[in-house]
Amino acid sequence: MEIQEKILKLKKQKNAVILAHFYQTSDIQDIADFVEDSLGLSQKASTTKADIIVFAGVHFMAETAKIINPQKKVLIPDINAVCSLADSCKITDLKKYKEKYPDHKVISYINCSAEVKTLSDVICTSSNAVKIVNSFSKNQKLIFAPDKNLGAYVNKITGRNMVLWNGECKVHDLLSTESILTIKLDNPDAKIIAHPECKAIVLEMADFIGSTAAMLAFVKKDSAKRFIIATETGIIHQMKKIAPEKEFIIVSKDKTCSCNDCEYMKMNTMEKLYDCLLKETPEIKLPLEIIVKARIPLQKMLDLSNIEKNK
Ligand code: 13P
Ligand code: SF4
Repeated sequence: MEIQEKILKLKKQKNAVILAHFYQTSDIQDIADFVEDSLGLSQKASTTKADIIVFAGVHFMAETAKIINPQKKVLIPDINAVCSLADSCKITDLKKYKEKYPDHKVISYINCSAEVKTLSDVICTSSNAVKIVNSFSKNQKLIFAPDKNLGAYVNKITGRNMVLWNGECKVHDLLSTESILTIKLDNPDAKIIAHPECKAIVLEMADFIGSTAAMLAFVKKDSAKRFIIATETGIIHQMKKIAPEKEFIIVSKDKTCSCNDCEYMKMNTMEKLYDCLLKETPEIKLPLEIIVKARIPLQKMLDLSNIEKNK
């Protein structure tokens, strides 16, 4: 039996759901029940009726699903699939940081640990960061953690002056203007679209900036036929699916470099996915007190996002 069939059979037997991020390998995206951005995945985790959630993504995403569903079993194909951005912000350091800014509220990007979530007033993703920041009154002082690039972008859009934690995604942060310009020179008709985790200097060159889901929606509806994509490589699979007649050129330092493959996202494989479903391990486990505290800012984000959706 093919591995795809074995996974589907087990999934049915165990009443499991497979949630996958757009940066997963194509075969994992194709077998998943839902392939979404970080917001979409947390929304799916909040409504699933499955007994087991297999999270094909990185550790903070699976932790988020566990915080939302403490009673469910949450599995991740590779427990070492972490995130450089989430790792840049440790709870003890954030505690000290908050002491320096006692009258500031903390907005944390979802790319952070469950512990860091417990110190946050609200969570955001790249698709709702501007809305979440705007939900605070103009004179409320804010700390934005841990992504300084997304934080700077949101500061620019909202006209705020949030204090920014000094963290970055090592995949997006290394995408350079030089590599984009080289591609643009060869492809002058192609539109540049970029994820807000990229540096400000890269974002300034972009025709469109948005989360992975927003990038997908843009390439589908926009009249351009060719796009230069400044984000992780996995997104190209969905882009080709939703707009097969269009062309997508991924930004990288040179033709042989796979530097914008996220090494953590790509740790998950079909074999590991099958194995984790079969053996029900590695499982995400969190102390109840962390779940209880981290759930508050996360639920606030989900509520604010639903209000926006229902408008
Ligand atoms: P989104 O899919 O929410 O845009 O996030 C991108 C990312 O870097 C996830 O790790
Ligand atoms: Fe973290 Fe960047 Fe990988 Fe996303 S792409 S999981 S932010 S290291």
